[in-house]
Amino acid sequence: MFREEIEALEQNGITRTVFRRLDDPKVIPLWFGEGDMATPEVITNAAKDALDQGFTFYGHTRGRAELRTAIRAYCNRLYGTDVSFERITVPGSSMLGITLATQMTLGQHDHAILITPHWPNIDRAIAVIGAEFSHVRQRCGARGWHLDLDEVSTAIKPNTRAIYINSPCNPTGWVMQREQQQELLRICRERGVVIIADEVYHRTIYDAEVAPSFLEIATENDPVIVVNGFSKAFAMTGWRLGWMITPSGFGEQMAVLSECFNTGAPSFIQRAGIAALEQGDTAVQQFRAQYQAGRSAVMAILGKHPLVELTEPEGAFYAFVRIPGLKSSDAFVNSVLDEQDVGLAPGFTFGPGNDEYFRLCYAQSNARLREALGRIVVYLDQHADDYR
Ligand SMILES: Cc1ncc(COP(=O)(O)O)c(C=O)c1O
Repeated sequence: MFREEIEALEQNGITRTVFRRLDDPKVIPLWFGEGDMATPEVITNAAKDALDQGFTFYGHTRGRAELRTAIRAYCNRLYGTDVSFERITVPGSSMLGITLATQMTLGQHDHAILITPHWPNIDRAIAVIGAEFSHVRQRCGARGWHLDLDEVSTAIKPNTRAIYINSPCNPTGWVMQREQQQELLRICRERGVVIIADEVYHRTIYDAEVAPSFLEIATENDPVIVVNGFSKAFAMTGWRLGWMITPSGFGEQMAVLSECFNTGAPSFIQRAGIAALEQGDTAVQQFRAQYQAGRSAVMAILGKHPLVELTEPEGAFYAFVRIPGLKSSDAFVNSVLDEQDVGLAPGFTFGPGNDEYFRLCYAQSNARLREALGRIVVYLDQHADDYR
């Protein structure tokens, strides 16, 4: 009676583990993509003020004009671009932006390429449509993760309509460099494929202010949809606010699409988004310092462990840890949860070929993170014989 694509949906491996012990205070949660620092006060105060001022009504379905203006100013300031107001939509969360991007590009039986390892919600958004997808894998060498664009080019089929690419990458930390972005854009222009660029970790990068963006090289007529948001840069994961920048000429369609889903983001939360973009930069720097300390701790404690393979992530705030010989990442993370009260995400859920991996988010404050890393080391030492 219901669509088979819906019947076939399976919960991803992260939430399947999380739901066993969600909100259990004994657990140190490194499973979700967030830290333990609260949203900065300048942002929460803006939301409170907005509630007091009565921002509780419907608004423009593409987002309030003053927020879209602020997003435009923010992007153009960060990237030195001239993105127009007309191309910006605030449908709700970044995830919703990705869902809309998949719906804009894919129909039943169309094909999408996922650059993988990838966050599992993405393939679910494609599967719901009834489209097919295949993976092109980033490879991990001595100098970290990288992508071979020849493999991407070869993977394009006659019915390929979209390529999803997330940089800085959850879970690997890979950051796509400008030359590769240019080359991928050239390929996609030529082959008529839309790039869905997920740039939600744009500020979570350690050797620059912002990661290279497709916005900097694409024209307003290029086949590129950039999705971004507030969750990661401004510690606003629970606010569910993000934006998308589409090619020009889609204003009416974006209004309709937004109406069909959430009819835009909540009004008072949009006002908080403006405060984040205009006054949140100090907080971005503070968060970055915490994440950088987190990355150092992970590399010092886990990176040196004899059972572990790990290269230093360039961006985002995850360690994608390989334990050669691990038989089931799912069994592993559940066992670490049971024995050590540390929440991890199983590798298998980030696409094929990842069952020897687990992912941890190192955005937690340093003492807590170190405590969790210590427990993981105890676990590994106690179970060392399982992986040999
Ligand atoms: C790669 C990636 N894209 C999108 C999202 C969704 O972000 P939001 O919370 O803004 O919907 C996440 C969240 O973890 C993510 O890791």
